[in-house]
Amino acid sequence: MKSTNFYFIIAVLLLSCNQKPKKEKFQYERIQENSSEVIQNNNIGNTIILNSNDAMLFDKKVIKVSSGEQVTLTLNHVGQIAKDFMGHNFVLLKKGVDVDDFGQRAILARDNDYIPEGDDIIVTTKMLGGGETDTIVFDAPEPGKYIFICTFPGHYQLMQGEFIVL
Ligand code: CU
Repeated sequence: MKSTNFYFIIAVLLLSCNQKPKKEKFQYERIQENSSEVIQNNNIGNTIILNSNDAMLFDKKVIKVSSGEQVTLTLNHVGQIAKDFMGHNFVLLKKGVDVDDFGQRAILARDNDYIPEGDDIIVTTKMLGGGETDTIVFDAPEPGKYIFICTFPGHYQLMQGEFIVL
């Protein structure tokens, strides 16, 4: 049983590696953090490409944008698993919002694509399934450090990062 699990994990890892476009390999500076691969943000201006995958990961832990300008953010789900099982979104939280509290409330908001009622978010993409993409355009908020997460149940602990407005 254990070895079956092991091979399954290896298969998933191989699958997620293979799905990364080869071109990206030379465009990002890679660093090690918490033993998982983190790809540094290397976007041009305020145009952000954020990828998510079947391994429940975003490819960026830090996104930096300039204040006073519009941000164009494209979220890609580069995996293959359907939205009901491996849905991903990008939700930018307002400052001071408790991530755990929000993440828990999101689980109950299934009918609203896991966006809970209230005034907690700056912007969100659609919830995506494998192969889907969504682009949003919004004004960069006040300079500072914000948190972005995926609100699909069970995802926000792994799928979160810093959105820094300079
Ligand atoms: Cu997700």
